[in-house]
Amino acid sequence: MSNKEKSSVVSGFYKLPVKERIEFVKKFSNLTDEEAKLFSQSLNIDIADRMIENVLGNFELPLGIAVNFLINGKDYLIPMTIEESSVVAAASNSAKIARINGGFKTESTDPLMIGQIQILHIKDVASAAQDIINKKKEILKIANDQDKVLVKFGGGAKDLEVRILDSPIGKMIVTHLIVDVRDAMGANAVNTMCEALAPILEEITGGKVRLKILSNLADKRLVKATAVFDKEKIGGEHIVDAFLESYNLAAIDPYRAATHNKGIMNGIDALIVATGNDFRAIEAGAHAYAAKSGQYTSLSHYYKDKNGNLVGELELPVAIGIVGGAGNIHPKAKLCKKILGIKTAKELAEVVVSLGLAQNFAAVFALSTVGIQKGHMSLHAKNIAVMAGATGEEIDKVADKMVKEGKIKLDRAEEILKEIR
Ligand code: MEV
Repeated sequence: MSNKEKSSVVSGFYKLPVKERIEFVKKFSNLTDEEAKLFSQSLNIDIADRMIENVLGNFELPLGIAVNFLINGKDYLIPMTIEESSVVAAASNSAKIARINGGFKTESTDPLMIGQIQILHIKDVASAAQDIINKKKEILKIANDQDKVLVKFGGGAKDLEVRILDSPIGKMIVTHLIVDVRDAMGANAVNTMCEALAPILEEITGGKVRLKILSNLADKRLVKATAVFDKEKIGGEHIVDAFLESYNLAAIDPYRAATHNKGIMNGIDALIVATGNDFRAIEAGAHAYAAKSGQYTSLSHYYKDKNGNLVGELELPVAIGIVGGAGNIHPKAKLCKKILGIKTAKELAEVVVSLGLAQNFAAVFALSTVGIQKGHMSLHAKNIAVMAGATGEEIDKVADKMVKEGKIKLDRAEEILKEIR
């Protein structure tokens, strides 16, 4: 069965024992016995030792699965690696609501990354800029000679943009090399091309090249996700209005927008990490994009449609790959990509942005109604119970009592533990 014919809807997934959750995922994603065993295995120390320097061991984070996702008509189970409680459950709940109106719909640009080459000490920047444009064909050829494989797969350097910038140290030219990186994140390909172009750009301009590096503001590699959240399912039109009141603060105020966008990144980063991608690159791109108008604002937008339902839209740059990088070395990252059943980096990016929108909807919905503490409390109480020394069934008993009392404190957990022992 292909993922297209399967449903990711599972009620009470969170109540299943870990073993049964693995069985469900194994069946959904056609995992082998060997692959299913990976969930309980740590990263081999030799692999870790080749990934970074001065390795001592591994640092484990929980890997959970968000369920219920329907994106462009296809069902997905989404692996999420994150330390924060409530995030996975919240994404799954949003996805369930979004399904009522057809799930998430996405659109994306080609996977175009930007490489920057900074050229200084030029006598006449205007004519040097024109000279670069006149030699565009030659420059693109040198860039493409650096990565024949990428070109073979339809990617490669496609265009040049020349910017003249004024700075406290004088005028400079910044040449943007636009590269279609296909299924890669693209940093290596773009950086190699930019470095190779330094001599010819110095020759053309008579200037000195300094920086040669990709830009994380990948605003030519955009993905947009849209979903309609059913007004009845979320409690009626007055809840839609309450949601829009909350959202509007993020639209106008950077203090709120930062937190609002952090909620989006809760989902996005968890999937980026699970697939072995660079979450710092995505964070940098997302926040720079959020400030593109000159004022930092919300990455998502919400409005009410003619039926009174809530429409959510999220657009951001997503520079991620499915070939090369840690995602091809780390066994769990490879496993997570298999669970997703994604075929291209574009498809993965579309899942990423849909998840970000789901996460954002869940957070703002909770904030507009009951607040977020309620959702956090149960897992938080369990952690406090464990800290107080509870084990096995004691954990739930101590946690439940503290939640009922509305007092989740270590000293209270210790008292309850004494009482029940
Ligand atoms: C917490 O990790 C994320 C939220 O603060 C996001 C938001 O405020 O929208 C709940």
